[in-house]
Amino acid sequence: MAILKIARMGHPVLLQRCAPVEDPGAPEIRRLVADMMETMEDAPGVGLAAPQVHVPLRLFVFRIPGERASPDAEDTRVPNSVLINPTMELMGEERALGWEGCLSIPGLRAAVPRATRVRYRGVDCDGRPVEREVTGFHARVVQHEYDHLDGVLYTMRLTDFGLFGFNEELGRAAEAAQREAASANAGSAASAGAAPGAGTSGRAGPTGAEAAR
Ligand code: NI
Repeated sequence: MAILKIARMGHPVLLQRCAPVEDPGAPEIRRLVADMMETMEDAPGVGLAAPQVHVPLRLFVFRIPGERASPDAEDTRVPNSVLINPTMELMGEERALGWEGCLSIPGLRAAVPRATRVRYRGVDCDGRPVEREVTGFHARVVQHEYDHLDGVLYTMRLTDFGLFGFNEELGRAAEAAQREAASANAGSAASAGAAPGAGTSGRAGPTGAEAAR
């Protein structure tokens, strides 16, 4: 196994529509998937698409850590997984803002609108069909990764560039807002909800590279 070099925003490999994987069980695909999982864990991130490691094919790896999953029954912990030749269906009209990072855009994050529920299909390295309907963080991660296969980065999805910045600054702003809210406590704490690090769920945004994908 090997740690692979990750392409950063500006590299043309991140802007192309990727080609289908002809043989998901081929030894070179299994090796690529194993290396991508190792690279994702090393980064660390929660997802990595093949074009991010300079391979313009339609596959990505991801994982949902237990601490990132929501109380939803369809957003539970998921171990390292692969999805090859996926399709993605957005379910319903509901969209939510949530903080995202990307291993190809290091040091930054933004609040990105995504469908709250999706259904996806694909196959794994044994050619076994995968089909799931998911919500919450799981839904967000797979939409982010699926976008990479079509040459779309999260920056292209932004609707509010005020909610885009460096991890360190957003983390600092969120901490300051929490302190302010705590000290104001009852009464006139109106400004706390508007802090850029506070996220739409009311929780502080993810810190560091943990949320990157
Ligand atoms: Ni990404």
